[in-house]
Amino acid sequence: MSSLKLLPSLAKRLPYGRQQIEEDDIAAVVKVLRSDWLTTGPAIDAFEVAVARYVGAEHGVAVSSGTAALHAAMYGLGLGPGDEVIVPPMTFAATANAAVFVGATPVFADVDADTLLIDPSEVSRKITSRTKAIVAVDYAGQPCDYEALRPIAAKHGIALIADGCHALGARADNRCVGSLADMTAFSFHPVKHITTGEGGMVTTDDAGFAQRMRTFRNHGITTDHRQRTERGMWFYEMADLGFNYRISDFQCALGHSQLNKLDVWISRRQEIARRYDAAFAGTSISGLKTREGISHAYHLYVIRVPRNRQEVFVRLRDAGIGANVHYIPVHLHPFYGERFGYGPGLCPVAEAAYQQILSLPMYPAMTDDDVDYTVDCVFEAIAAV
Ligand SMILES: Cc1ncc(COP(=O)(O)O)c(C=O)c1O
Repeated sequence: MSSLKLLPSLAKRLPYGRQQIEEDDIAAVVKVLRSDWLTTGPAIDAFEVAVARYVGAEHGVAVSSGTAALHAAMYGLGLGPGDEVIVPPMTFAATANAAVFVGATPVFADVDADTLLIDPSEVSRKITSRTKAIVAVDYAGQPCDYEALRPIAAKHGIALIADGCHALGARADNRCVGSLADMTAFSFHPVKHITTGEGGMVTTDDAGFAQRMRTFRNHGITTDHRQRTERGMWFYEMADLGFNYRISDFQCALGHSQLNKLDVWISRRQEIARRYDAAFAGTSISGLKTREGISHAYHLYVIRVPRNRQEVFVRLRDAGIGANVHYIPVHLHPFYGERFGYGPGLCPVAEAAYQQILSLPMYPAMTDDDVDYTVDCVFEAIAAV
Protein backbone atom coordinates (compact mmCIF):
# COMPACT_ATOMS: atom_id res chain seq x y z
CA MET A 1 0.00 0.00 0.00
CA SER A 2 1.06 3.55 -0.61
CA SER A 3 2.12 5.49 2.45
CA LEU A 4 -0.03 8.39 1.24
CA LYS A 5 -2.48 9.41 3.94
CA LEU A 6 -5.27 10.32 1.50
CA LEU A 7 -8.67 8.76 2.04
CA PRO A 8 -9.61 6.58 -0.95
CA SER A 9 -12.60 8.82 -1.77
CA LEU A 10 -10.29 11.85 -1.98
CA ALA A 11 -7.58 10.15 -4.00
CA LYS A 12 -7.32 11.05 -7.63
CA ARG A 13 -7.52 8.67 -10.56
CA LEU A 14 -5.13 9.94 -13.21
CA PRO A 15 -4.50 7.86 -16.35
CA TYR A 16 -1.18 8.33 -18.16
CA GLY A 17 -3.01 9.78 -21.14
CA ARG A 18 -6.57 10.40 -22.26
CA GLN A 19 -8.63 12.00 -24.97
CA GLN A 20 -10.41 15.34 -24.69
CA ILE A 21 -13.79 15.42 -26.42
CA GLU A 22 -15.68 18.71 -26.48
CA GLU A 23 -19.14 19.71 -27.67
CA ASP A 24 -17.88 20.98 -31.05
CA ASP A 25 -16.20 17.60 -31.66
CA ILE A 26 -19.49 15.83 -30.97
CA ALA A 27 -21.39 18.24 -33.23
CA ALA A 28 -18.90 17.61 -36.06
CA VAL A 29 -19.38 13.85 -35.79
CA VAL A 30 -23.17 14.12 -35.60
CA LYS A 31 -23.20 16.32 -38.70
CA VAL A 32 -21.44 13.59 -40.68
CA LEU A 33 -23.68 10.87 -39.23
CA ARG A 34 -26.64 12.80 -40.66
CA SER A 35 -24.99 13.11 -44.09
CA ASP A 36 -24.92 10.71 -47.04
CA TRP A 37 -21.31 9.64 -46.51
CA LEU A 38 -20.17 7.51 -43.61
CA THR A 39 -17.04 6.28 -45.41
CA THR A 40 -14.99 7.16 -48.54
CA GLY A 41 -16.65 10.58 -48.45
CA PRO A 42 -15.62 14.24 -48.34
CA ALA A 43 -14.76 14.42 -44.61
CA ILE A 44 -11.79 12.12 -45.27
CA ASP A 45 -10.38 14.33 -48.03
CA ALA A 46 -10.89 17.43 -45.88
CA PHE A 47 -9.06 15.88 -42.91
CA GLU A 48 -6.20 14.70 -45.12
CA VAL A 49 -5.78 18.17 -46.60
CA ALA A 50 -5.95 19.80 -43.15
CA VAL A 51 -3.33 17.53 -41.54
CA ALA A 52 -1.01 17.76 -44.56
CA ARG A 53 -1.30 21.55 -44.53
CA TYR A 54 -0.70 21.68 -40.76
CA VAL A 55 2.52 19.66 -40.97
CA GLY A 56 3.66 21.26 -44.23
CA ALA A 57 3.45 18.19 -46.47
CA GLU A 58 1.94 17.85 -49.94
CA HIS A 59 -0.19 14.76 -49.27
CA GLY A 60 -1.98 13.03 -46.42
CA VAL A 61 -3.34 9.49 -46.70
CA ALA A 62 -5.72 8.65 -43.86
CA VAL A 63 -6.01 5.03 -42.73
CA SER A 64 -7.58 3.00 -39.95
CA SER A 65 -4.69 3.14 -37.41
CA GLY A 66 -1.10 4.22 -36.88
CA THR A 67 -0.11 0.62 -37.46
CA ALA A 68 -1.86 0.66 -40.85
CA ALA A 69 -0.05 3.93 -41.60
CA LEU A 70 3.33 2.29 -40.95
CA HIS A 71 2.33 -0.76 -43.00
CA ALA A 72 1.20 1.51 -45.86
CA ALA A 73 4.53 3.37 -45.72
CA MET A 74 6.46 0.09 -46.00
CA TYR A 75 4.25 -0.92 -48.92
CA GLY A 76 4.57 2.54 -50.48
CA LEU A 77 8.34 2.04 -50.59
CA GLY A 78 7.88 -1.35 -52.24
CA LEU A 79 9.78 -3.23 -49.50
CA GLY A 80 9.75 -7.00 -49.37
CA PRO A 81 11.64 -10.16 -48.44
CA GLY A 82 15.42 -9.72 -48.34
CA ASP A 83 15.16 -6.02 -47.47
CA GLU A 84 16.29 -4.66 -44.11
CA VAL A 85 14.66 -1.81 -42.23
CA ILE A 86 16.50 -0.09 -39.38
CA VAL A 87 14.29 0.62 -36.37
CA PRO A 88 14.89 1.65 -32.75
CA PRO A 89 14.07 -0.77 -29.92
CA MET A 90 12.51 1.92 -27.71
CA THR A 91 9.12 2.03 -29.41
CA PHE A 92 5.77 0.30 -29.65
CA ALA A 93 6.03 -3.07 -31.39
CA ALA A 94 4.06 -1.81 -34.42
CA THR A 95 7.09 0.17 -35.66
CA ALA A 96 9.12 -2.98 -36.24
CA ASN A 97 6.11 -5.17 -37.01
CA ALA A 98 5.33 -3.05 -40.08
CA ALA A 99 8.60 -4.17 -41.67
CA VAL A 100 7.73 -7.80 -40.87
CA PHE A 101 4.24 -7.36 -42.42
CA VAL A 102 5.85 -6.82 -45.84
CA GLY A 103 8.37 -9.64 -45.38
CA ALA A 104 11.34 -7.37 -44.61
CA THR A 105 13.72 -7.79 -41.66
CA PRO A 106 13.76 -5.20 -38.88
CA VAL A 107 17.31 -4.43 -37.74
CA PHE A 108 17.52 -2.73 -34.36
CA ALA A 109 19.80 0.30 -33.90
CA ASP A 110 20.21 1.38 -30.29
CA VAL A 111 19.04 4.71 -28.89
CA ASP A 112 20.86 7.68 -27.42
CA ALA A 113 21.10 7.34 -23.62
CA ASP A 114 19.96 10.91 -22.89
CA THR A 115 16.98 11.22 -25.23
CA LEU A 116 16.07 7.57 -26.02
CA LEU A 117 15.85 8.63 -29.69
CA ILE A 118 17.50 6.48 -32.36
CA ASP A 119 21.25 7.14 -32.33
CA PRO A 120 22.45 8.19 -35.83
CA SER A 121 25.88 6.62 -35.28
CA GLU A 122 24.20 3.30 -34.43
CA VAL A 123 22.10 3.64 -37.58
CA SER A 124 25.26 4.05 -39.68
CA ARG A 125 26.77 0.99 -37.98
CA LYS A 126 23.75 -1.17 -38.88
CA ILE A 127 23.53 -0.27 -42.58
CA THR A 128 24.24 -3.11 -45.02
CA SER A 129 23.79 -3.55 -48.76
CA ARG A 130 20.27 -4.85 -47.95
CA THR A 131 19.14 -1.80 -45.95
CA LYS A 132 16.25 -0.05 -47.71
CA ALA A 133 14.84 2.24 -45.02
CA ILE A 134 15.41 3.84 -41.63
CA VAL A 135 12.43 4.35 -39.32
CA ALA A 136 13.02 7.14 -36.81
CA VAL A 137 10.60 7.18 -33.86
CA ASP A 138 9.96 10.58 -32.30
CA TYR A 139 9.83 8.98 -28.89
CA ALA A 140 7.65 10.69 -26.27
CA GLY A 141 6.98 13.55 -28.72
CA GLN A 142 10.54 14.74 -29.33
CA PRO A 143 11.73 14.90 -32.97
CA CYS A 144 14.74 12.71 -33.77
CA ASP A 145 17.98 14.17 -35.07
CA TYR A 146 16.79 14.43 -38.68
CA GLU A 147 19.71 16.75 -39.51
CA ALA A 148 21.99 13.76 -38.90
CA LEU A 149 19.66 11.06 -40.25
CA ARG A 150 18.83 12.68 -43.61
CA PRO A 151 22.44 12.71 -44.89
CA ILE A 152 22.92 9.08 -43.79
CA ALA A 153 19.82 8.05 -45.74
CA ALA A 154 20.86 10.15 -48.76
CA LYS A 155 24.42 8.78 -48.75
CA HIS A 156 23.15 5.21 -48.93
CA GLY A 157 20.19 5.96 -51.22
CA ILE A 158 17.66 4.65 -48.70
CA ALA A 159 14.37 6.02 -47.44
CA LEU A 160 13.84 7.86 -44.18
CA ILE A 161 10.49 7.16 -42.55
CA ALA A 162 9.35 8.97 -39.42
CA ASP A 163 7.16 7.17 -36.93
CA GLY A 164 5.59 10.37 -35.68
CA CYS A 165 2.84 8.60 -33.74
CA HIS A 166 3.99 10.44 -30.57
CA ALA A 167 4.77 13.71 -32.24
CA LEU A 168 1.96 15.41 -34.14
CA GLY A 169 2.62 19.12 -33.65
CA ALA A 170 6.27 18.73 -32.64
CA ARG A 171 8.85 20.80 -34.53
CA ALA A 172 12.52 20.74 -35.31
CA ASP A 173 14.26 23.75 -36.83
CA ASN A 174 10.81 25.30 -37.29
CA ARG A 175 9.56 22.46 -39.45
CA CYS A 176 6.81 20.16 -38.25
CA VAL A 177 7.14 16.45 -37.76
CA GLY A 178 5.33 15.23 -40.87
CA SER A 179 7.62 17.12 -43.22
CA LEU A 180 11.04 16.05 -41.91
CA ALA A 181 11.26 12.62 -43.58
CA ASP A 182 10.19 10.97 -46.85
CA MET A 183 7.04 9.70 -45.17
CA THR A 184 5.67 10.19 -41.66
CA ALA A 185 3.16 7.93 -39.90
CA PHE A 186 0.74 9.34 -37.32
CA SER A 187 -1.69 7.65 -34.93
CA PHE A 188 -5.00 9.09 -33.75
CA HIS A 189 -5.53 6.63 -30.89
CA PRO A 190 -7.27 8.29 -27.89
CA VAL A 191 -4.05 8.76 -25.89
CA LYS A 192 -2.43 10.66 -28.77
CA HIS A 193 -2.55 14.42 -29.37
CA ILE A 194 -5.78 14.31 -31.35
CA THR A 195 -8.08 11.36 -31.79
CA THR A 196 -10.35 9.73 -34.33
CA GLY A 197 -11.07 6.81 -31.97
CA GLU A 198 -8.78 4.57 -33.97
CA GLY A 199 -7.03 6.04 -36.98
CA GLY A 200 -3.81 7.10 -38.59
CA MET A 201 -2.29 8.96 -41.50
CA VAL A 202 0.84 9.08 -43.60
CA THR A 203 2.08 12.45 -44.81
CA THR A 204 4.52 12.78 -47.68
CA ASP A 205 5.60 15.15 -50.46
CA ASP A 206 5.85 12.26 -52.91
CA ALA A 207 2.76 11.89 -55.13
CA GLY A 208 3.80 8.38 -56.19
CA PHE A 209 4.03 7.10 -52.61
CA ALA A 210 0.69 8.73 -51.81
CA GLN A 211 -1.01 7.08 -54.78
CA ARG A 212 0.37 3.64 -53.89
CA MET A 213 -0.82 4.00 -50.30
CA ARG A 214 -4.32 5.10 -51.40
CA THR A 215 -4.60 1.94 -53.47
CA PHE A 216 -3.15 -0.20 -50.68
CA ARG A 217 -5.71 0.99 -48.10
CA ASN A 218 -8.51 -0.07 -50.44
CA HIS A 219 -7.67 -3.71 -51.31
CA GLY A 220 -5.15 -2.71 -53.98
CA ILE A 221 -8.03 -1.64 -56.21
CA THR A 222 -7.51 0.97 -58.92
CA THR A 223 -10.17 2.73 -60.96
CA ASP A 224 -8.98 4.22 -64.20
CA HIS A 225 -11.66 6.53 -65.61
CA ARG A 226 -10.55 6.02 -69.22
CA GLN A 227 -10.92 2.24 -68.84
CA ARG A 228 -14.28 2.75 -67.14
CA THR A 229 -15.52 4.53 -70.24
CA GLU A 230 -14.19 1.80 -72.53
CA ARG A 231 -15.08 -1.29 -70.46
CA GLY A 232 -18.13 -0.19 -68.49
CA MET A 233 -18.82 2.14 -65.61
CA TRP A 234 -18.52 -0.77 -63.17
CA PHE A 235 -14.94 -1.43 -64.16
CA TYR A 236 -12.21 -1.60 -61.53
CA GLU A 237 -9.10 -3.71 -61.16
CA MET A 238 -7.26 -5.19 -58.20
CA ALA A 239 -3.77 -4.38 -59.35
CA ASP A 240 -1.99 -5.59 -56.22
CA LEU A 241 -2.85 -7.21 -52.92
CA GLY A 242 -4.07 -4.54 -50.51
CA PHE A 243 -6.10 -4.35 -47.33
CA ASN A 244 -9.20 -2.68 -46.02
CA TYR A 245 -7.38 0.01 -44.04
CA ARG A 246 -10.03 2.67 -44.73
CA ILE A 247 -11.07 5.16 -42.05
CA SER A 248 -14.64 6.46 -41.84
CA ASP A 249 -15.92 9.97 -42.46
CA PHE A 250 -17.24 10.47 -38.96
CA GLN A 251 -13.85 9.52 -37.52
CA CYS A 252 -12.20 12.07 -39.79
CA ALA A 253 -14.75 14.71 -38.78
CA LEU A 254 -13.73 14.12 -35.17
CA GLY A 255 -10.04 14.34 -36.02
CA HIS A 256 -10.54 17.51 -38.06
CA SER A 257 -12.43 19.21 -35.25
CA GLN A 258 -9.70 18.18 -32.80
CA LEU A 259 -6.95 19.46 -35.10
CA ASN A 260 -8.26 23.01 -34.57
CA LYS A 261 -7.29 22.68 -30.89
CA LEU A 262 -3.95 20.94 -31.33
CA ASP A 263 -1.74 23.98 -30.72
CA VAL A 264 -3.56 24.95 -27.53
CA TRP A 265 -3.35 21.37 -26.25
CA ILE A 266 0.35 21.12 -27.03
CA SER A 267 0.99 24.39 -25.16
CA ARG A 268 -0.76 22.91 -22.15
CA ARG A 269 1.32 19.70 -22.43
CA GLN A 270 4.45 21.84 -22.48
CA GLU A 271 3.29 23.75 -19.37
CA ILE A 272 2.69 20.46 -17.56
CA ALA A 273 6.15 19.27 -18.57
CA ARG A 274 7.72 22.46 -17.23
CA ARG A 275 5.89 21.97 -13.92
CA TYR A 276 7.17 18.40 -13.66
CA ASP A 277 10.69 19.55 -14.69
CA ALA A 278 10.71 22.21 -11.96
CA ALA A 279 9.51 19.76 -9.32
CA PHE A 280 12.13 17.13 -10.15
CA ALA A 281 15.05 19.54 -10.73
CA GLY A 282 17.92 18.84 -8.36
CA THR A 283 16.40 15.57 -7.08
CA SER A 284 17.34 11.94 -7.70
CA ILE A 285 14.66 11.75 -10.41
CA SER A 286 15.81 12.70 -13.86
CA GLY A 287 13.83 13.30 -17.01
CA LEU A 288 14.96 12.84 -20.59
CA LYS A 289 17.12 15.44 -22.28
CA THR A 290 15.43 17.81 -24.73
CA ARG A 291 17.43 18.51 -27.89
CA GLU A 292 18.36 22.08 -28.84
CA GLY A 293 16.11 23.84 -31.35
CA ILE A 294 13.13 21.53 -31.08
CA SER A 295 9.57 22.00 -29.85
CA HIS A 296 8.51 18.92 -27.89
CA ALA A 297 4.93 17.68 -28.26
CA TYR A 298 5.04 15.69 -24.96
CA HIS A 299 2.91 12.71 -25.81
CA LEU A 300 4.66 11.19 -22.78
CA TYR A 301 6.44 12.60 -19.76
CA VAL A 302 9.11 10.03 -18.95
CA ILE A 303 11.20 9.96 -15.76
CA ARG A 304 14.03 7.70 -14.71
CA VAL A 305 13.57 6.23 -11.28
CA PRO A 306 16.89 5.74 -9.53
CA ARG A 307 15.99 2.47 -7.83
CA ASN A 308 13.32 -0.17 -7.55
CA ARG A 309 11.13 1.04 -10.41
CA GLN A 310 8.77 -1.92 -10.06
CA GLU A 311 7.84 -1.01 -6.50
CA VAL A 312 7.54 2.68 -7.31
CA PHE A 313 5.20 1.73 -10.15
CA VAL A 314 2.98 -0.36 -7.84
CA ARG A 315 2.85 2.36 -5.21
CA LEU A 316 1.85 4.95 -7.82
CA ARG A 317 -0.87 2.70 -9.16
CA ASP A 318 -2.14 2.20 -5.57
CA ALA A 319 -2.32 5.98 -5.23
CA GLY A 320 -4.44 6.28 -8.39
CA ILE A 321 -1.60 7.38 -10.68
CA GLY A 322 -1.79 5.53 -13.99
CA ALA A 323 1.98 5.33 -14.39
CA ASN A 324 3.14 3.21 -17.30
CA VAL A 325 6.32 1.91 -18.89
CA HIS A 326 7.08 2.91 -22.49
CA TYR A 327 8.56 0.57 -23.64
CA ILE A 328 9.78 -2.99 -23.23
CA PRO A 329 12.49 -2.86 -25.94
CA VAL A 330 10.90 -4.48 -28.97
CA HIS A 331 13.74 -6.93 -29.69
CA LEU A 332 13.11 -8.54 -26.28
CA HIS A 333 9.61 -9.72 -27.21
CA PRO A 334 9.39 -13.50 -27.70
CA PHE A 335 8.29 -13.12 -31.34
CA TYR A 336 11.51 -11.31 -32.22
CA GLY A 337 13.59 -13.92 -30.41
CA GLU A 338 11.87 -16.80 -32.18
CA ARG A 339 11.65 -15.27 -35.66
CA PHE A 340 14.96 -13.37 -35.84
CA GLY A 341 17.07 -14.74 -32.97
CA TYR A 342 17.18 -11.34 -31.24
CA GLY A 343 17.53 -11.05 -27.47
CA PRO A 344 19.20 -9.34 -24.51
CA GLY A 345 22.48 -7.57 -25.24
CA LEU A 346 21.49 -6.42 -28.74
CA CYS A 347 20.68 -2.84 -27.67
CA PRO A 348 22.27 -2.26 -24.25
CA VAL A 349 21.32 1.42 -23.95
CA ALA A 350 17.61 0.74 -24.47
CA GLU A 351 17.76 -2.30 -22.21
CA ALA A 352 19.35 -0.29 -19.37
CA ALA A 353 16.86 2.56 -19.80
CA TYR A 354 13.99 0.09 -19.69
CA GLN A 355 14.95 -0.82 -16.11
CA GLN A 356 14.38 2.77 -14.94
CA ILE A 357 11.76 4.53 -17.06
CA LEU A 358 8.28 5.44 -15.96
CA SER A 359 5.70 7.52 -17.84
CA LEU A 360 3.70 9.89 -15.65
CA PRO A 361 0.23 11.25 -16.47
CA MET A 362 0.33 13.75 -19.34
CA TYR A 363 -2.76 15.10 -21.08
CA PRO A 364 -4.08 18.63 -21.62
CA ALA A 365 -7.01 18.40 -19.20
CA MET A 366 -4.68 17.72 -16.24
CA THR A 367 -4.82 20.53 -13.70
CA ASP A 368 -1.79 21.93 -11.90
CA ASP A 369 -3.19 20.26 -8.83
CA ASP A 370 -3.14 16.89 -10.66
CA VAL A 371 0.50 17.45 -11.57
CA ASP A 372 1.43 18.39 -8.00
CA TYR A 373 -0.41 15.37 -6.64
CA THR A 374 1.50 13.13 -9.07
CA VAL A 375 4.81 14.69 -8.03
CA ASP A 376 3.99 14.21 -4.31
CA CYS A 377 3.09 10.58 -4.96
CA VAL A 378 6.36 10.01 -6.84
CA PHE A 379 8.43 11.47 -3.99
CA GLU A 380 6.52 9.47 -1.38
CA ALA A 381 6.86 6.27 -3.37
CA ILE A 382 10.59 6.76 -3.85
CA ALA A 383 11.14 7.61 -0.20
CA ALA A 384 9.36 4.37 0.73
CA VAL A 385 11.31 1.94 -1.46
C1 LIG B 1 5.48 4.82 -31.68
C2 LIG B 1 4.20 4.19 -32.11
N1 LIG B 1 4.12 3.69 -33.35
C3 LIG B 1 2.99 3.11 -33.81
C4 LIG B 1 1.85 3.00 -33.02
C5 LIG B 1 0.64 2.33 -33.54
O1 LIG B 1 -0.46 3.19 -33.58
P1 LIG B 1 -1.95 2.61 -33.51
O2 LIG B 1 -2.21 2.20 -32.09
O3 LIG B 1 -2.81 3.77 -33.93
O4 LIG B 1 -2.04 1.47 -34.46
C6 LIG B 1 1.89 3.50 -31.71
C7 LIG B 1 0.72 3.39 -30.84
O5 LIG B 1 0.74 3.46 -29.67
C8 LIG B 1 3.10 4.11 -31.25
O6 LIG B 1 3.18 4.59 -30.00
